[in-house]
Parts: sequence; structure tokens; C-alpha cells
Amino acid sequence: MREKLVIRGGKPLCGSVTVSGAKNAAVAILPATILCENECEIDNLPDIVDVHLLDSLLCSMGAKTSASKTTMTIDAGGVKEYVVNNDAVKMMRASYYLLGALLGRFGKAEVCLPGGCAIGLRPIDQHVKGMEALGASVKTEYGMLKAEAPCGLVGTDIYLDIVSVGATINIMLAAVKAKGRTTIVNAAKEPHVVDVANFLNCMGAKVKGAGTDIVRITGVEHLHGCTYSIIPDQIETGTLMIAAAATRGDLTIKNVIPTHMEALSAKLIEMGVTVEEGDDTLRVTCQKKPKHVNIKTLPYPGFPTDLQQPATVLLSTAEGASIIVENIFESRFKHINEIRRMGANVSIDGRVCVVEGVERLTGAPVRATDLRAGAALIVAGLMADGRTEITGIKYIDRGYDHIENKLKQLGADIHREKLEDIDEYDLM
Ligand code: EPZ
Repeated sequence: MREKLVIRGGKPLCGSVTVSGAKNAAVAILPATILCENECEIDNLPDIVDVHLLDSLLCSMGAKTSASKTTMTIDAGGVKEYVVNNDAVKMMRASYYLLGALLGRFGKAEVCLPGGCAIGLRPIDQHVKGMEALGASVKTEYGMLKAEAPCGLVGTDIYLDIVSVGATINIMLAAVKAKGRTTIVNAAKEPHVVDVANFLNCMGAKVKGAGTDIVRITGVEHLHGCTYSIIPDQIETGTLMIAAAATRGDLTIKNVIPTHMEALSAKLIEMGVTVEEGDDTLRVTCQKKPKHVNIKTLPYPGFPTDLQQPATVLLSTAEGASIIVENIFESRFKHINEIRRMGANVSIDGRVCVVEGVERLTGAPVRATDLRAGAALIVAGLMADGRTEITGIKYIDRGYDHIENKLKQLGADIHREKLEDIDEYDLM
């Protein structure tokens, strides 16, 4: 059933909320369980569509899984299939992790080319470069990525031409059982890259240096099952922090890792927002219009590209003009057309957008075009005067764990409604 989110804005978010497990760690760790033939228990999983898709995908490949709300046990001993070609894979960007995991387990893999949010070209040349460097032959035909290493994978030095989260993780998955040592230079340092490395080590792998730009892996013969708890979601935390500031609220977010949020916390403080750090909490309070700031998205520990869209919305009613440079993806401004419908004054030139602060936003029917654009529209609806209707919320459900329930408990007027045929805006 197609639904829309309906928000009546202008209510400050107040109270406390616990953030869910990290989507971008979960969508890598679940495929990584294919590397071992014993049972793994993964805790603190977010209850999101991408996790459910991966659950059914692993089962279709021969794994046995059992899931509760936030815990899943996976026994991949029964996985015999190294060819994966179904719609679930085509929907998700993270399905490329099946390539590294199957190659690491079987020495061969055939995975249909990944889908994912339309925020740019999103090539996978660095993934292919890494697999070929490890001794696999990789070709693309009939929409499938086919990789094979008949003589097995052999460790080597790999220099990434661009800092890539996906390629760093995918090469780690393929290298943990390769013969000898692998070094990944210019590696991504995001919290979820470190989380995947910690999970692999929990299974008995030897991965060192994750979180720096040089990751060193010593191949092992065998990986064993383990129990692992996923880190809190850095991007959900940041989205909630931004929503608190945008609604002039007073929000305490629990189960967070404050150091993961430093780039955003620093920017919010620059805007005049108060951010108080606890051991595993962050409190965000904002009583007045934020000041304008300039933002450049960068690989971690820089300002996360996944928070650029919600931050742009926050700045749409700041004092003065803000300049935002999107350095990671070449078309991650699709939310701008939607917030213009709500009165935002934003101009775009390539990867640069200038946000002139206006007095207020006003509610309107808008459409999410990707996951974080959807999050940005929720922030816009929360801060706008009047009623906002958001369609395209299938994107939001892929990456946020029941976000409207969390917001409702914090005082937001937000609910889902069945999409009527007249909601033609969703059909455009
Ligand atoms: C991951 O995408 C995340 N997705 C993205 O989050 C996130 O925005 C991105 O990392 C950056 O942090 C998952 O983890 C599932 P990249 P990924 O490889 O791995 C270029 C969200 O909203 N590139 O770090 O696809 C690429 O085009 C999603 O949760 C190549 O040129 O990102 C981009 O410009 C959206 N060749 C840059 O590198 C390659 O082989 C960074 O991409 C790979 C990437």
C-alpha cells in the first residue's frame, strides 16, 4: 500500500529519543556473514526495509536466519549459491557487498549490478580494481558483475583513486581469507567502515588500521561465528540533531557516539545552536534563528554528505546566506526543488548551492526522490507553518527505523495516510 507522511509543522521537538543501529554498517555486516560457515548473532539492527531485504536475500541463497525486532541470527553454512540475481539486489546499493563476500567465500561471484539512491553516477570501478588486484577476473555482462579467482585470492597493495566507503569495505570482505597480506591505501574512515572491520575481527579475521587511511589485512584460513552489536547510526543521530535545531526544540539523543558527530556538532555550534555532549548522549537546544554558515561535504571526519540535505533545509530560515558545496556526489540537490515549493530561496550552480535565509517555510505537497532528500523534507515539514504531505516515503523506510514514531513521541504532529489516487504528485 502506497502511503504519504502528513506533518503539521511548528511544534518544537522536546524530550529524549534513542537512536537505532547504523544502516550503513548493517547492510555490510549482514552480507559479511556469508564469509563464515557458523552462526552469527547480530544485535542492534535497525528495523528498516534494507535489513529485511538482505534477510530474505540471504535465505534465498541457502542461509538460515531468525530475526526479532533488532536481533538476527544468520547461519550461512548452507549458502552454496554464488549467483545472485533478483529484484532485491537491484534495489540496493549495498548489494555490491555480496561480490566481496561471495568472492571471499567461494572464489567466485555473480551479482547483478547494484541500484541505490539516484544521487550521482556512482560507478564501482574502485571495487573492480580491488577485486582484480587480489587476483580475480571481473567482467560485466547482461547486467551482472561476474568475478572469478580460479587460483584463489592473493593479498596485495591496493591504492584507491578516490576515498570510497563501499570499495574499502568490499575489498576488506574479499581480502580477509586471501593468501598473505593486503594493504588498502586511501581507505575510507567512516564509523561504519570501522564497525565492519571490528565485526570481521570478531569472526577471527586480522584487520588493522580501520579508521585510518591505511587498512592492513592478513588473510586467515577460517572464520568462525560470533555475536556482534552494531554501532549507533551516525546519520540518524545527525538528522535528529538537525530536526531539533530546526524546530527550536530541546532534544536529548541517547545511545550515540558523540565523536562520530563532531563535524555536525561544530557546525551547529557555529550556527548558535547549543550542543551538550555526554558519554553516550547529545543534547541539542535552539531558541533563536540559526546564523548562516558555509558547509563543504567531505569524507569522514569531514561533514557527512548524508547530512547535507537536512542541513540545507535547516539553513533555509537562517539569518543570512549560506554556501553549501557537495563534494561527494554530483547530483545531491534534488530536494531543493521540493523545498522551493515551501518558500525556500535557494540557487544551485553545479555542486554549489546558495541558501538565502527566509522568514519561514510554509507547508506544501512534496515528493522524496532519495533517502536523505526524504529526511530533509521531514525536517522541512516539521519547521514549516501549516500542512506538508510527503510522498515517495518508500525511500525513507529503507533507511530510517520508524522515524515518524520517534518524532511523534517528541511532540511532532506527524502521521501516515494511505495515498489516494488524486495524489497525482507522487506519479510524476
Ligand atoms: C556509501 O555509499 C553510503 N551507502 C552512502 O550513504 C554515503 O553517502 C557514501 O558511502 C559516502 O559516505 C552505503 O554505505 C550503503 P562511496 P558508497 O563509494 O559506498 C565515487 C545513504 O544515504 N566512487 O564512498 O556508494 C562515488 O561516485 C547512502 O545512506 C567512484 O568513483 O559511496 C562518490 O562520488 C547514500 N568509484 C564517491 O566515490 C567507485 O568505485 C564516494 O562514494 C566507488 C565510488
